[in-house]
Amino acid sequence: MRMRRKRNLEARVEACGHILLARGKPCRNLKEAAETFRALLDFRAVFGNDRPVELEVGCGNGGFIAELARRAPQKNYLAVELCTNVALTAMERIVKEGIPNVRFLNIPAEILACYIPPHSVERIYLNFSTPLPEAGRERQRLTSDRFLAIYKTLLKEGGEIVQKTDSAPFFEYSLRKFRENGFAVKDVTFDLHASEWAAENIVTEYENNFLQKGMKICRAVAVWAAKGAQ
Ligand SMILES: C[S@@+](CC[C@H](N)C(=O)[O-])C[C@H]1O[C@@H](n2cnc3c(N)ncnc32)[C@H](O)[C@@H]1O
Repeated sequence: MRMRRKRNLEARVEACGHILLARGKPCRNLKEAAETFRALLDFRAVFGNDRPVELEVGCGNGGFIAELARRAPQKNYLAVELCTNVALTAMERIVKEGIPNVRFLNIPAEILACYIPPHSVERIYLNFSTPLPEAGRERQRLTSDRFLAIYKTLLKEGGEIVQKTDSAPFFEYSLRKFRENGFAVKDVTFDLHASEWAAENIVTEYENNFLQKGMKICRAVAVWAAKGAQ
């Protein structure tokens, strides 16, 4: 998602400060930060209630999380986005639309465990994560062993990852990785818009682009059942 740096970026990010919980890397070395830095969020303080928390990794312009939060005011949502320029679009949308139950982490997903308490999240959405087919970039795929290990520390028992992608090879890779990492996979479709889950689906910005090109969308749910799986 390439775009020119937005005008007055810093001032505009500051204006969204009340919904932005963290930004950037706590130290230069991401691995060191992931292992040592902790600034765990108190969800009750953040949202003002004890409702279930769900997470979207790579929220892009925020259209999906905004609609999800509108549909489920009884839940809380955390939107994670690496790129500040992109996160700003999403944050300004949430502020403008007055949606009360969404907060943002403008951080790389690699350091999610620095901020999110262990086993506190009910669902993680991965919408159209970049497939990164090159062998040398496997570690950066958001469904690689490395990221699934992080998600397992965040998810509650029985928590879920819901993945959507246009890339069948990436989808097949993800299904394999979910199973290898102890997730139970369900509700698998290689054509979401012709499936029983189409009616409830929220179309993301990237999904809309792929649909315009006549491409099919893959979708699956991976359930983390620590006790059953290990
Ligand atoms: C292909 S876009 C999809 C955007 C949106 N989910 C959609 O479906 O329209 C992927 C997004 O994930 C973000 N992203 C990629 N790697 C990330 C990471 N490690 N941590 C957080 N965000 C990441 C990118 O900046 C980009 O905005």
